[in-house]
Amino acid sequence: MSLKKFGRTGLKVSEVALGTMAFGRWIDESKSAEVLDSALDAGINFIDTADVYGKGTDLGNPQESGQSETILGHLLGARRHRIILATKVHGRVGSEPNDQGQSRYHIIRAVENSLRRLKTDYIDLYQVHRFDKETPLEETLRALDDLVRQGKVRYIGASNYAAWQLAKAHGISAQLGLHRYESNQPEYSLIARGIEQELLPFAASEGLAIIAYSPLGRGVLTGKYQFDQAPPAGSRGAAGEARIKSLLENERNFQIVEGLKPIAARKGWTLAQLALTWVISQPHVTSAILGASSPQNITDSVAKAAEKLTSEELAEIDEITQGVPGSLKTLRETAAGKS
Ligand SMILES: NC(=O)c1ccc[n+]([C@@H]2O[C@H](COP(=O)([O-])OP(=O)(O)OC[C@H]3O[C@@H](n4cnc5c(N)ncnc54)[C@H](OP(=O)(O)O)[C@@H]3O)[C@@H](O)[C@H]2O)c1
Repeated sequence: MSLKKFGRTGLKVSEVALGTMAFGRWIDESKSAEVLDSALDAGINFIDTADVYGKGTDLGNPQESGQSETILGHLLGARRHRIILATKVHGRVGSEPNDQGQSRYHIIRAVENSLRRLKTDYIDLYQVHRFDKETPLEETLRALDDLVRQGKVRYIGASNYAAWQLAKAHGISAQLGLHRYESNQPEYSLIARGIEQELLPFAASEGLAIIAYSPLGRGVLTGKYQFDQAPPAGSRGAAGEARIKSLLENERNFQIVEGLKPIAARKGWTLAQLALTWVISQPHVTSAILGASSPQNITDSVAKAAEKLTSEELAEIDEITQGVPGSLKTLRETAAGKS
């Protein structure tokens, strides 16, 4: 597994990160342990979680969240210091008005709760889960800067931020002499290419690390789903994940999967391998955050991570994904005045 430089910092992270949104939500602690072992065996040194990951999401009860961090805290033990551990703050974690968002009040409480659940005294990357339009950025950035200065957090990052939001935050950090967001965590895959227009060029210009989530389109790009048919038993589609539902209703996603099949077959790769390797081949992507519900998901998906896609294959893939929001081909055509 190759390591990449984390944006402009001196930190090195594996080009595939393990996402643990499934821990305590779709898989129990013993299966989570198998997934974690398999990821570390594959050379992954970068793990992503969030304070909201757990059963609460599906139960509609924020107080039931936190299982992903708790399970990681149980499982990591002495291995904690070998990995770069990332978590997030923002989502609702309780019923009180201030149990959410990015106020100084909530950030300071949330980090203490994450440290306790993770059984660690520092978080390597502390990320704001999305933009908080109700809290002044200055308040959030000053609170995060305090956590870095206290040694509770090593680096700060954003997630689901637009380029203009990052530019605004970086400007405030520079003006006030505060630590700045060193990364952004956006969705990026062959069925979600929206970041190519603004965010990737911004990241290249500013030395921002990009940690791409859902590189397999939540499983859609693995070919396990069929359009207009019931999701297979045991899948997240069958478990009723809200955000996969809209992906499964979009026939275009299935046309893309069909288009990719001959390329995967020619290379002797699985669709999961093709989807993951495509994301980590993109020049401005630091890491792709892979999700898994079994250790086999990890071993299969990363097996071709060290291989390359040819420029002809990349062009063919651009053709297949034409029209996916933000795809390079769409941008080129727009720039050329084609509608
Ligand atoms: N910042 C954010 O707002 C945000 C949002 C979403 C995710 N994330 C992060 O990104 C991580 C990954 O997200 P994701 O789980 O949606 O990513 P993903 O990698 O696109 O999808 C993972 C799913 O694909 C299936 N899968 C994986 N490998 C496979 C293989 N080799 N063969 C067949 N199926 C395979 C499994 O589905 P089944 O379990 O159905 O079999 C697995 O749960 C999360 O854990 C989280 O850390 C962040």
